[in-house]
Amino acid sequence: MVPGIAPQAAATIAAKDMESAMTKLQFNAFESPMGGEVVDFDAKAAFDDDTYGEFKRLLRERIVVVVRDQHDMTPDQLEVFTRRFGGIKRMHLAQYQLDGHPEIWVISNIVENGKPLGLKLAGTMWHTDEMYLENPVSYTFLLGKEVPPAGGDTLFANMYAAYDALPESTKAEIDDLRVVVSRVHAYQAYYPDREPLTADEKAALPEVTQPLVRVHPETGRKALYCGGGEVAWNIVGAELLKGQSLLRELRHFATMPRFVYTHEWRTGDLVFWDNRCSLHSATLFDTEKYRRLAWRTTVLGEAAIPVTREAAE
Ligand code: SIN
Repeated sequence: MVPGIAPQAAATIAAKDMESAMTKLQFNAFESPMGGEVVDFDAKAAFDDDTYGEFKRLLRERIVVVVRDQHDMTPDQLEVFTRRFGGIKRMHLAQYQLDGHPEIWVISNIVENGKPLGLKLAGTMWHTDEMYLENPVSYTFLLGKEVPPAGGDTLFANMYAAYDALPESTKAEIDDLRVVVSRVHAYQAYYPDREPLTADEKAALPEVTQPLVRVHPETGRKALYCGGGEVAWNIVGAELLKGQSLLRELRHFATMPRFVYTHEWRTGDLVFWDNRCSLHSATLFDTEKYRRLAWRTTVLGEAAIPVTREAAE
């Protein structure tokens, strides 16, 4: 709040600022707890720093941004767009990389000449991307090249709103807790149909801990960071069943419809989001009947900031 100004007046000023800063991008906020679309914008062309600033503001305010109609976007153009937001990450599972583009993952059920184009389904459970890294990715970009006419939506949940809605007593209880995150443990549970991890792959995925509540480095707001069911494995120092049940309860609360935006894909949608304050989940579709093809990039992130410094130690 602006010091010395009544809360209502401060809110009006903030809204006005937002309007003037967004004159360049035509943005329609969705009637949902997060998300909005940018129309009439060519993400394939270079854009100036003011426009970049507007995208960043939209991400801070709405968490999920959809740029419509990027039908002909090439892999190079997707990489260039992604790099405007930070260092692009090389994708770790080589078999799903787009040929010649190790920074792009292909998510697709399409098989051509007996060869799957990519990963058939990815992330069909609530999660935040790569929480298992010491420095989890900040933003994820997903370009819908082909989308099914039914199903295959992506769900997003607003972790600021979920945290804010918790009872004060729960916030006090969880603010300093840390989560044990184990990608190796999760792997077989999530992907029983994939090749088991090799010893080298396992060694590259050591267990980490993350704050259960993280402070966003740009907004300073607190967001629940309760992760995905099998990856966010336990609470540090908790008896396993108790830790898991707390995580399950929080995730259940945080993904109630009042915190969720459902993205129904249109071909050419370029959807990107901030993983530091959201969960997301892919949903199923009839993979026998319909085709889905998406390209995915991510931006390198920083260590999650805990609520108190002590919680980091
Ligand atoms: C993901 O979780 O990165 C993919 C989401 C989707 O395919 O809808």
